[in-house]
Amino acid sequence: VRTRPQLLLDNGGDLFVRYLEEPYDGLLGGTEETTSGRMRLEPLRDRIGLPVLVINDSPIKQFAENRHAVGQSVLESFMRITNKSTGGKRVTVFGYGACGKGVAANFRNAYSVVSVVERNPVLRLEAMLDGFLVPERDEALRTADVVITVTGAEGVVTVADLPLLKDGTILANAGHFPWEIDAAGIEAAAEGRVTVLTGGHMVNLAGPRPLGNSIESMDLGFALQTRCLEAVATGAVGPESCVVPVPRAIDEAVADGFVAL
Ligand SMILES: NC(=O)c1ccc[n+]([C@@H]2O[C@H](COP(=O)([O-])OP(=O)(O)OC[C@H]3O[C@@H](n4cnc5c(N)ncnc54)[C@H](O)[C@@H]3O)[C@@H](O)[C@H]2O)c1
Repeated sequence: VRTRPQLLLDNGGDLFVRYLEEPYDGLLGGTEETTSGRMRLEPLRDRIGLPVLVINDSPIKQFAENRHAVGQSVLESFMRITNKSTGGKRVTVFGYGACGKGVAANFRNAYSVVSVVERNPVLRLEAMLDGFLVPERDEALRTADVVITVTGAEGVVTVADLPLLKDGTILANAGHFPWEIDAAGIEAAAEGRVTVLTGGHMVNLAGPRPLGNSIESMDLGFALQTRCLEAVATGAVGPESCVVPVPRAIDEAVADGFVAL
C-alpha cells in the first residue's frame, strides 16, 4: 500500500483486503491466484470495483497444474522418497478432484492397481467410468499398499483407521494442509508398522530434494498471470470483471502459444 502499486498479483486475497483498508488513487486492478482468495474477495466486489481476474478458475490451471503437474510430481516424489516400484502396488487415492484425477492416472500409468475414494457420488461415478476401482472407504484402506490423500479436507485418515491398514502401508498427503492425515497420531501408535511420508506435509513439495510442479506447468501459470495483468493494465477488461475467471480469449491465446512452442 505504501508503494501504491498500479497492479496487484494477489494470492489469498491479502493485498486487495489491505488496499480496502487504505485505498489510494491509481490502482488499476490485478489478479488473484487461488480459490480461497476468490472466496474471500467475492463478497468485496462492490467495494473493490476494479478488474480482478482469478487465475485458479482458468481451465488451463485446473488441468495443466492440478491434474497433470501435481499427479506427475506426486508419483515422482513417491518413487524418489521410497525407492519403491509402483507396478502391481495397490494404491488408494482419496479425492477425485482435479489433483486426485492426476494422481490416480499417473499411478495407473505406472502399472499400479488404483482405487479411488470420493465422497461426491457424481465424481465417484466418474472415477468408475474412468476405469478405477471405487470400493467403500474401509475396504479401500484394508487392501492398500499405498494411501494418498488429496482432498483439502481435515482428518481424512486418522489413527482410528490404523487397525484397517496392512503392515508396511505407506501413506502420503498431497493436499495443501498437513491435516488430511493424522501423521503424528498414526506414527506414534503404529510402532513402525506403517509409514507416513514427509510427516503428512505435501509429499511433492516437502520431501528431500523436492522439485514440485514441472517447469512447463509453472510457465503456463505465469503466462496466464502476465496476459491477465496486461488486459487489466491496458483496459481490455473493466470494473465489471471484478473477481471473475480468466477471459476465454486469454486462455485461448496462452494455449495456442504453448502448443506452438
Ligand atoms: N501438492 C500440490 O502441489 C498441490 C497443488 C494444487 C492444489 N493442491 C491441493 O490439493 C487439494 C485438492 O485440490 P483439488 O484442486 O483437487 O480440489 P477439488 O476440490 O477439485 O477436489 C477435492 C475432492 O476431494 C473430495 N473429498 C473431500 N473430502 C473427502 C473425503 N473425506 N474423502 C474422499 N473425498 C473427499 C471432494 O469431494 C472433492 O471432489 C487442495 O488442498 C489443494 O489446495 C496441492
